[in-house]
Amino acid sequence: MLLEANNKNIKLAAKLINDGDVVAFPTETVYGLGADALNPKGVIKIFEIKKRPRFNPLIVHIANKEAIKEFSRKHDPRIFDLIKEFWPGPLTLVLKKKKIIPDIVTAGNDTVALRMPNHKVALKLIEYSGKPIAAPSANSFGFLSPTDPQHVEKQLGEKIKIILDGGRSNVGVESTIISFVGKDPVLLRPGGLPVEIIESVIGKINFSEEYSDKPISPGQLRSHYAPKIPIGFLTETSIRKNSDKKIGALFFKENLFDSVFVYEKFLSPSGDLNEAAVNFFKYLHELENKDIDIILCEKLPKKGLGFAIMDRLQKAVNKYL
Ligand code: TXA
Ligand code: MG
Repeated sequence: MLLEANNKNIKLAAKLINDGDVVAFPTETVYGLGADALNPKGVIKIFEIKKRPRFNPLIVHIANKEAIKEFSRKHDPRIFDLIKEFWPGPLTLVLKKKKIIPDIVTAGNDTVALRMPNHKVALKLIEYSGKPIAAPSANSFGFLSPTDPQHVEKQLGEKIKIILDGGRSNVGVESTIISFVGKDPVLLRPGGLPVEIIESVIGKINFSEEYSDKPISPGQLRSHYAPKIPIGFLTETSIRKNSDKKIGALFFKENLFDSVFVYEKFLSPSGDLNEAAVNFFKYLHELENKDIDIILCEKLPKKGLGFAIMDRLQKAVNKYL
C-alpha cells in the first residue's frame, strides 16, 4: 500500500521492520526495499521479493556517521575524509565487516557496504526502528530502478505491505560505491556522487571495468537495469536498422537526427547532467509502457553524472545484445 511518508506512517513502517518484515522507502538516489539488517528472517524476504540471487550482497543504511564503527573495522583515514564531506549522501563504502552483520546481508563476504542516505524519511525510518536497514533498490532484480513510489508499486506493489511515498528521488541514480578493502580505494559502481568530486578529496581512484554474470566483486554484473522492451543506443546506424519498427527515442538535449520518432523524450533540454540523471529511469519507466518495439537512447558525455547514466545505459543495452 502506498502511504504518505508522514511521521505516523514512518512509525508504522518502522514497526514492520522491527517485526522482521520489509517496507519500501524513499532515498535521494532511488527507492529502497528495506529490512532490519540484523535480522536474517527479514533480510531473506528482500531476496525473495526481488528474485535477487543470494550471491549479491546488500547495502546497509545507517542514520549517523558514528555507526560506521559499530558495523565495520579497519578504517583507512581517507574514509573519514569522505564521510565528513559526503555523508549523508549518495556514497556507499565497502569495508571489512564486524561479526554483528549477518552473512545473508553480505553474501558470505567478510565486507559490508555502508551508506548514510540524504533523505529525511530514510533517516527517520532508521531512527524510529533503531536498526540499521539493509536495502537494495526496490525493483525486481535486473529491471529498472524506481525513482518514484509508483515505480515500486508497478513492479512489487502486491508483495509489500507499505510503500512510503516521499515523492521523486532527487538524484535519480544509485549511490557511488567505493571499496576500501584493499590497499587503495576502488570504484565498484559509478553513481550519484561523481567520481571527479570524490577524487578531489582523496586522489585518483581505480575502476575495474570488467563485467561478469557471477561477479567476484559484486556490483559488476554485465547486464542490469533493463526495461522490459529492447533498448539500444541511438545512432544513424541503429535508426536505419530499426526503420521497420516503432521507436521511442530518448535524447540528451535535442533531436539533431533527420528522423522523427513515435515518442521523443529529452533528458535535459539545457544539457544539465544532474537533471538528466533525475529523468533517466523515470523516462525509461514511461517508455517501457508505451506501444513501441524498441527504445533507442542517445549516448551522454561520460563525465559528472553522465558516467553513472552511461554505466546503467550500457548494462541495459547489454541485456538485448
Ligand atoms: O543508492 C543506492 O545505493 C540504493 C539505495 C536504496 O540506497 N541501493 C542500491 O542497492 O542501489 P542495490 O542492491 O540495488 O545495489 C547495491 C550494490 C550491488 O551491486 C551489490 O553487489 C553491491 O552494492 N554491494 C553490496 N554489498 C557489497 C559488498 N560487501 N561488497 C561489494 N559490493 C557490494
Ligand atoms: Mg539495484
